[in-house]
This record gives sequence, C-alpha cells and structure tokens, in this order.
Amino acid sequence: MENKVNFKNFWYIACQSKELSKDKPIARTILDEWIVLFRDSDGNPVAFQDRCVHRNYQLSKGAVKDGCLRCPYHGWTFDKEGSVVNIPAEGPNQKKLSTRSAQKYECIEQDDFIFVRLENNPEMETKPYSMPHYKESGYKTVRLFNIFKNNVTNCAENYVDVPHTVFVHDEIFRVSRQEKVEATCKRINGSVEIDYRNETNNLGWFSWFLNPKGGEIVHKDFFHMPNVTSVEYIFSPGREFHITSQTVPVDDTTSWVYTDLTFKFGAWNFLAAPIVKYQGQSVIDQDIVVLENQMKVIEKYGTDFSNSKADIVHVFIESIREEIEKGADPRLLKNREQEFEFWV
Ligand code: FES
Ligand SMILES: [Fe+2]
Repeated sequence: MENKVNFKNFWYIACQSKELSKDKPIARTILDEWIVLFRDSDGNPVAFQDRCVHRNYQLSKGAVKDGCLRCPYHGWTFDKEGSVVNIPAEGPNQKKLSTRSAQKYECIEQDDFIFVRLENNPEMETKPYSMPHYKESGYKTVRLFNIFKNNVTNCAENYVDVPHTVFVHDEIFRVSRQEKVEATCKRINGSVEIDYRNETNNLGWFSWFLNPKGGEIVHKDFFHMPNVTSVEYIFSPGREFHITSQTVPVDDTTSWVYTDLTFKFGAWNFLAAPIVKYQGQSVIDQDIVVLENQMKVIEKYGTDFSNSKADIVHVFIESIREEIEKGADPRLLKNREQEFEFWV
C-alpha cells in the first residue's frame, strides 16, 4: 500500500486539557472528520470517530462510565480501544459482542493540550509541536483561543505578515513610519524562517516596557509545517516575547486557532499578564475581521494573489503546504534563501 503524504499525517490540537473532564465526552471537527474525545479510567485522552457503529448516533452525545464511552441511543459501550464491551439489548449473558469497533485515532496530551492524529503514515514521522518555553521558570504564558473564518494557509500567513501590522493594527501594535526593514527568508526542512534586521522601537504601545532602553531587537518568525507559526522577539537584557499559534483545520473555510503569548519580562511578568492578554486579543480580533473578509472574496473569485517582495514569506509557506496537497514530503524541497527589504 502506498503511503501518500497528506494533512491527516500531522498532529492537531483537538482541545485544551482542561476542556476534557472525566465524565463527559466532547465533539470536535478536524479536517472535516467528526471526532469524539473522552478520558479513560486512568485519565488518558481517547479519540474516536464520532459515530456509533451500531446505528450511527453521535457518541459525543453519550456518557463516560468507568472510562468507557456509552452511546445514548441503545447503550452500546466502547472501551478505550474502541471495542464493544456491552450491548444492553443482548441481556445479561452477552456471548456475541459486535466484532466491529469504533474508529480510533491516536491521541497525546502535551503542554496542556490534547492532540489528535487522524492517520499515521510511517513515511511521514510527525510529532505534536511543543509550545516554546511553556511552564518554564521565568516565563509566563497567556493562552488564547479564537475561531477564524479562513483556511490554515491564510491564517498562518497572516500571523507572520509584518507589512499588514501598520494598517490593521495601527497604533496598537505598530505605527506606520515608512522605515526600511531588511530580512532574510529561508525555506528549510519543511519550515520557513524569517530573520528581521534593524528592527527599531516601532512596536507601538509595547515599546515602553518591552524595550525601554531602545537596544537592538532580535525578531525572528517561523512557520513549521503544516500549521504552526512562531514569532519571537528578544530584547536586551533578557526580555523575551513569543507568540505561537497552532491553527487547526476544521474545514476548508474554518480554523480553530490556539495562541500562546509567552513572555519573560522579569519582575513585570505578573503585572503584564492581563495587559498582554487584552492587547493580544485586540490584535487577533482585528485579524479575524480581515481574514473573514479575505475568505469571502476568495470564495467568490478564487485565490489569485499578486506578490510584492515581502510576500516571499507567503510564497515559501504556500510551497510547503502545496507539497503536502500534492502528496509529497515538504522536507524534501530544495532549501532556499532570499534576502528582501520592505517599508513599514
Ligand atoms: S446507535 Fe449507538 S447504541 Fe445504537
Ligand atoms: Fe495581524
């Protein structure tokens, strides 16, 4: 059997750990697949297709009893492997349980998220992306969740799109000053890495505490296949700000996005958390509006982009995602590196 690479070979966040209790299953959709999640008797997360093999009722409407999932229609009960362990209509001496079992998916709990992989492709070794510096000492994380009416490609591109910030996030994040920024964009091993130079203090409202001394800012953005972006600011001395987003494909026009704002502001950490949360959410709210509009136009007229120099970032990201669409491993793409400059 041929193992063509496809988007199902990757791990996606299904929910946050705290959303999955011991006694209630929850429903999620990833890549158009309906999924039910619950916890087994050890508290480990389990994921099945959200469909009872008996008469096609949604298992997510059922209940968890002793770590097993019970369908609410006729009470068929499934253990953590997906095997049928009880058919109430068969009475007390059940000899012949159904040999059919629920379609099970791999499930991992990491960084207080529950990840699901729909298809294990031995030729495409993948693991859940680990959130940078999550729960490391000295770092604090504010976790945000948002729903975008757009696909993963456009969402991810937006999070690492610097030129839009002075328009969409005018004042909050950056102010347009028409200053030149130089950068290097690399495509390597299924990732895109952008290294920005001569970044100034133009971070709007954030500048006063992020970079009070006005020293050099190290700013790097990353895209990791197929759906992760990570923005990294390092300020001297020892202050850091990481914005990491994992964008989950729900269907062709909907993405669920988990964003960690992780920072190391020393003594300011505690005070900064609510401010970072408020400002971060305000920025995301603006992007949600833009991305919904973009999708509306794409649905009407199709995707036909024109690129400027700074859009090399998007071109590289698209080349990686297109490779997966074609059934190929993007890590085998030729490494590329390009210098570019733009004004913000
Ligand atoms: S449909 Fe699930 S038990 Fe009948
Ligand atoms: Fe934005």
